[in-house]
Amino acid sequence: MAETPSADKKKLFIKTYGCQMNVYDSERMAEAMDGAGYETTDTPGDADMILLNTCHIREKAAEKVYSELGRMKALKVDKPDLKIGVAGCVAQAEGAEIMRRQPIVDLVVGPQAYHRLPEMEAKTQEGVKALDTDFPEEDKFEKLKRRPKAKRAPSAFLTVQEGCDKFCAFCVVPYTRGAEVSRPVDRVITEAQDLVERGVREITLLGQNVNAYHGTHSGGDMTLAGLIWELDKIDGLERIRFTTSHPNDMMDDLIEAHGTCSKLMPYLHLPVQSGSNKILKRMNRSHDRESYIKLIERIRAARPDLMLSGDFIVGFPEETEQDFQDTLDLIKEVTYGQAYSFKYSTRPGTPAAERPLVDEAEANDRLQRLQALLSTQQKEIQDCMVGREVNVLYEKAGRLDGQMVGKSDYLHAVYVADPKGQIGDIKRVRIVESSTNSLGGVLV
Ligand code: SAH
Ligand code: SF4
Ligand code: F3S
Repeated sequence: MAETPSADKKKLFIKTYGCQMNVYDSERMAEAMDGAGYETTDTPGDADMILLNTCHIREKAAEKVYSELGRMKALKVDKPDLKIGVAGCVAQAEGAEIMRRQPIVDLVVGPQAYHRLPEMEAKTQEGVKALDTDFPEEDKFEKLKRRPKAKRAPSAFLTVQEGCDKFCAFCVVPYTRGAEVSRPVDRVITEAQDLVERGVREITLLGQNVNAYHGTHSGGDMTLAGLIWELDKIDGLERIRFTTSHPNDMMDDLIEAHGTCSKLMPYLHLPVQSGSNKILKRMNRSHDRESYIKLIERIRAARPDLMLSGDFIVGFPEETEQDFQDTLDLIKEVTYGQAYSFKYSTRPGTPAAERPLVDEAEANDRLQRLQALLSTQQKEIQDCMVGREVNVLYEKAGRLDGQMVGKSDYLHAVYVADPKGQIGDIKRVRIVESSTNSLGGVLV
């Protein structure tokens, strides 16, 4: 197919909410629409089509979409041909309801159907609204071939597994993303090779339950650890990460890889949600406090300097002050270098939705206390980096002249004075300073 000259291309503005998988999906949607004569723009006012790639995980996340759509009404008055689409998990969860609630929406596409976007866009050009929230048989990843060799940023996401069969009592993901599916090994490898040819040096493997990965490979099945070892063979790929993991799928070979695979970075996001066994049971988490702590000990035995990150929910139905104290204790026992914490948000259709809520003021107070502990811990761990040597992958120029900024092996942001530094370089750096959200380092 001949390239459309840039001046003749229509403009697509995509706004991405939610998790890293949505970031990856937005890139793939941009690629799909490139084939339909669109190029991306950073300015909604210039756009011929606006796509909101949405998140349904908490009530606030979903409501944000409707307020954004409200603001977009004005754009459509100025430009009646503007097409407005909703993609992602709100699209999957609410479907046609979105068009009823906000008639300016022309197109609604779920996360499993976005390879059909070009056909849907064509429909909207004929004045017909388009809705697709199917879980189709065909492989959307295969339908969406990557664009010819455009240069890429040095760090990239690559989805290897999607969906979830765990059904935690609070969570919408099994409904919006569907059942657990793993991509075949050779497809992942081909995509990784393509990324590396375009300048990528670090790949983060994505999945809602990425460590449950079991992709087909020469007739058999391969685990996430097996896949990591396959990626390890790619010359030019220097760093491998993966997210998000479930404690119950942390298999022996993956723990071992943390100790033996030098490209696998010493960082692990392993959400626990609560430190109370009563609450964990009611959350249907299928691990308890003791098994989680034991698991962390085993992982740290394999990789002593591993940086741990987690997710926490406070104010889950029937959480008492004692249950909450158990969570604080667990945090003190485990110590997290990074953490995400949320107040429980009722999601219609999930098992916990019918249960009595914790008093709102009490839940807010617990969230504040939890976040205070987590940020103290985070800062202490960050301060401990001062004096140590780390490798930094440069992602962009810093604010100061001759300064570069990138990520350490432990995912800390590091500023380095390096006038000769280039984006994509990996440099050995000694940490000399720890500020609020970043570290300062000098070249070794
Ligand atoms: N698959 C991942 C993450 C899923 S969503 C996992 O299992 O860990 C990311 C985080 O959002 C969850 O870990 C949880 O802490 C939070 N979350 C999910 N549903 C929520 C809800 N209803 N209310 C508040 N937080 C929620
Ligand atoms: Fe949601 Fe639980 Fe699945 Fe994570 S493991 S995506 S929290 S249901
Ligand atoms: Fe949100 Fe869907 Fe990701 S609900 S967190 S965008 S899987």
